[in-house]
Amino acid sequence: MADKQEFGPWEIVDKLNHDHLFKVRISNRPTGSEYVLKTLFHSSREGKDFYSGFRKEITVLKQLNHPNVLELVDYDLNPLNPYFVTPFYNMGSLEDMLPLRKNWKRRITKGIIRGYSYLHQQGIIKFDNNPKNIFLHQNTTKKLPRAIVGDFGMFELKTEPDLITNTWMDVLDIVKVL
Ligand SMILES: Nc1ncnc2c1ncn2[C@@H]1O[C@H](COP(=O)(O)OP(=O)(O)OP(=O)(O)O)[C@@H](O)[C@H]1O
Ligand SMILES: [Mg+2]
Repeated sequence: MADKQEFGPWEIVDKLNHDHLFKVRISNRPTGSEYVLKTLFHSSREGKDFYSGFRKEITVLKQLNHPNVLELVDYDLNPLNPYFVTPFYNMGSLEDMLPLRKNWKRRITKGIIRGYSYLHQQGIIKFDNNPKNIFLHQNTTKKLPRAIVGDFGMFELKTEPDLITNTWMDVLDIVKVL
């Protein structure tokens, strides 16, 4: 496991199901909130292209601010060990929660639509749209979960109507299996 100094103030609490994703907390705050830290795969670190792709992902996240879109909490662009930190969305991915409870469907669908509408207003076409890349978060068990559009590993800054339509087709595929 990586040394705790490796990620600035962030201390690793656990590994997620991927080698490059960790659950973290701020060091010295054992009762503080949990976050997710994403690094480059070790096998990808050598390649300049992978680093520039990772930097592109961070750069777009910096511009985004919407309750249904992945939130950037912190980042470090140091090419030797780049990383970024987002909140830990406590229900994981939408795929993990399928089939959804009937009374969640409307709110989750609405959240996904709001998230993608916001991205299109910002001139962002996101690819790789599937239930693994939508996260769910529930503030308290009394409240319905919120959908968060995540994984900006592949996107383009474009506003072509055809590309927007294709994204909505992806969204239709996602919401029809809820
Ligand atoms: N902030 C988060 N909160 C909760 N779970 C997360 C978070 N970020 C990622 N995950 C979990 O890790 C998985 C992979 O995350 P993400 O899609 O961001 O990484 P990736 O590098 O694109 O991996 P993949 O190639 O599997 O898509 C998600 O499907 C989800 O289960
Ligand atoms: Mg993904």
